[in-house]
Amino acid sequence: MRYIPEPYRIKMVEPIRMLTRPEREKRLEEARYNVFNIRSDDVYIDLLTDSGTGAMSDRQWAGMLMGDEAYAGARGYFKVQDAVKEIFGYAFAQPVHQGRAAEQVLFPSLIKPGQVVISNTHFDTTRAHVELAGGRPMDLVSPEATDTLHFAPFKGNMDVVALEQLLAEKGAESVGLIIMTITNNSAGGQPVSIENIRATRAIADRYGVTMILDAARFAENAWFIKQREPEFKDSSIRDIILETFRNADAFTMSAKKDAIVNMGGLIGVRDNPSLVEKVKKLTVPYEGFITYGGLAGRDLEALAIGLYEGIEENWLKFRVGQMEYLGARLQEAGIPFQSPVGGHAVFLDAKALLPHIPYNLFPAQALTLELYLEGGIRACDIGSFMLGNDPATGKQLESTFEFCRLAIPRRVYTQAHLDYIVDVLTDIKARAGTLGGYRITWEPPVLRHFTAHLEPVC
Ligand code: F0G
Repeated sequence: MRYIPEPYRIKMVEPIRMLTRPEREKRLEEARYNVFNIRSDDVYIDLLTDSGTGAMSDRQWAGMLMGDEAYAGARGYFKVQDAVKEIFGYAFAQPVHQGRAAEQVLFPSLIKPGQVVISNTHFDTTRAHVELAGGRPMDLVSPEATDTLHFAPFKGNMDVVALEQLLAEKGAESVGLIIMTITNNSAGGQPVSIENIRATRAIADRYGVTMILDAARFAENAWFIKQREPEFKDSSIRDIILETFRNADAFTMSAKKDAIVNMGGLIGVRDNPSLVEKVKKLTVPYEGFITYGGLAGRDLEALAIGLYEGIEENWLKFRVGQMEYLGARLQEAGIPFQSPVGGHAVFLDAKALLPHIPYNLFPAQALTLELYLEGGIRACDIGSFMLGNDPATGKQLESTFEFCRLAIPRRVYTQAHLDYIVDVLTDIKARAGTLGGYRITWEPPVLRHFTAHLEPVC
């Protein structure tokens, strides 16, 4: 497969440094074998997340200098409004400081306490904000998502059969909201087809339920649609995005992903003046006055520009191409991963690579730690370590997947970095049988993976 050369030139660099092996061992011990406790200066290649870690363009930086820092009515606000109207076809956009802030502001207006909220898969913070608004989150992802080795073009899809059944059983009154996450991050960055979005919309209409998009990776989703959904093979990315968003009533967006800013988020409302008023009302106490929404004027400028840069076809072709190149090289090396690769990450299948480590000794965490020890690479566990304990019994839950996520920041790393990652994994694979598991020595009651302490099991 031919690698597409980076569609940018580098004119500012940030040096990175490789520690020696003994230094990395010491840092990991000091971090209690939790990569969230490692200083970024001690990481050579940081694949912890693609969120807020992208490199802004020269045009975005130029925009930053032109930022209007007025408290009310700043220029950047109107630029964001115009961009949202043009790209998504929505009448109103509320800037906020990041994706979870959009959830916090929007959800109380859409969810009544006790109502069920259905998603193809809720992201963690989305789930938390549904619960904070009194809702009960439920995931209905297409069954194809669970087969990591089998290729399916749209593994992120909603299970529309189950959705219809659930609405028929429970009745529309008990379902508050449908959230379509594009791409489906927690299912491996897998895309959702327009066909599935339209089918979900049709069900939502039949039962009179509001449907929104969690649109953090909307541009990558549009690229996959162009590649994999025959109806759209000759459509422009712009048209695919318009068609996607036409099917929803509103969206929340972490702009830290596809809009390539280090901080920012959006709420979009298609055509519903009373919802706009509710959003404005909650934005003021949570995020600040509506024309800055938790952001500096310069951030609004960068966001308005980033929304356009993130949907350029050449950029998306390269971006997803990077993931596909990494996947192809891993395949050659016999390293198992969720296939096909996602739009923002490759999810290594640690259960398949380290079958001798049981779920309660955390195979994906073991692989994550080995990547740091062997190559100074920081990834993260998306498996039993992240899943945590059963709240009722306190016992460790067994995750369906034991993934080690390699999330690729936008416009940051080059082909050489990707090759290096594969080389490190190839060395690890050669002695995979000698790797041991880890046990937890301390953990907080909720969201433990961010702070828990571990030790190797020898
Ligand atoms: N929705 C999705 C699908 C996300 O992936 C994220 C963040 C959010 C909402 C929340 O946005 O972080 O700006 O508040 N995902 C990051 C990740 C953190 O690493 O996947 P936020």
